[in-house]
Amino acid sequence: MNSPLTVRCPAKINLYLDVRGRRPDGYHEICTVMQTVDVCDELLIEARDSEISMACDSALLPADPANLVWRAAELLRRETRVCGGAHLGLMKRIPVAAGLGGGSSDAAGALRGLNLLWRLNLYDAALESMAARVGSDVPFFIRGGTALCTGRGEKIAPIPPAASYPIVIVTPPILVSTPAVYASLLPEPSPPPSRATEFLAALASGDPALLAAKLYNRLEANTGAHMGEVEKIKRTLLAAGALGASMSGSGPSVFGIAGDLGRAKRIARAIRPSLPPGSFIHCGMTAAPAYTAPDNQL
Ligand code: C5P
Repeated sequence: MNSPLTVRCPAKINLYLDVRGRRPDGYHEICTVMQTVDVCDELLIEARDSEISMACDSALLPADPANLVWRAAELLRRETRVCGGAHLGLMKRIPVAAGLGGGSSDAAGALRGLNLLWRLNLYDAALESMAARVGSDVPFFIRGGTALCTGRGEKIAPIPPAASYPIVIVTPPILVSTPAVYASLLPEPSPPPSRATEFLAALASGDPALLAAKLYNRLEANTGAHMGEVEKIKRTLLAAGALGASMSGSGPSVFGIAGDLGRAKRIARAIRPSLPPGSFIHCGMTAAPAYTAPDNQL
């Protein structure tokens, strides 16, 4: 039997997120730049004879076929007609329903890990098209790093990162429903011109101040109950010295960009006492995911 695998599943932030309109299929046409960060869930994958099973250390998530990890595993097994099974043990470190893509990243991790465990030798492109059937954000996490994502988020164009940026991520203890945020998006009489070109130039500069000035998330114009808290955290981050701050995905997570890691640590220390009890706070760097590690680690 194959030895178990440990797969790291990184969180993401949306450095830029524009919504270009509602589609006939109910989704929204978006243009977003996603970026993996150094907060990771871990997925332990062990071979089994025939069935899929899973365990999860978070009470907020089902450890059953409704979990995106399980759905991804079943889809891969069905599509490739694999005879083997697997047990997937999920250790959550990324806040749940927080706009950080944790569930999507876990599903992508299952696809990457099982591709290896079951010796399927599928290319990233094949994994990405399967990932798109699990969720709009899942394909991005097959390769991670920095990417321009369009369509409903599933069309991926990798961007070579000009730099790694110091960040502070704050998640207040509020669970947010992505469909509800899209549904409550305030309509604009005529959509403003895209700011994507300007944003991409700022990203390519490698200058955190230029990037921070161009952060944008159209979903901040929704009427969700978490938006008051999001605004408060943005102001707190800026007052503590962040160069810029923005909501990630549909929230409630907010991130700030700092000039250097030392400054990011000082910001994190300064704001901690003023955050709502139970908030998650992380100080680190934007990063390409460290999928490859010695031995059996992905
Ligand atoms: O693709 P996924 O299942 O992650 O999307 C969850 C929900 O978020 C969708 O059912 C839809 O309501 C909303 N959504 C959207 N437009 C997108 C992505 C998600 O309206 N581009």
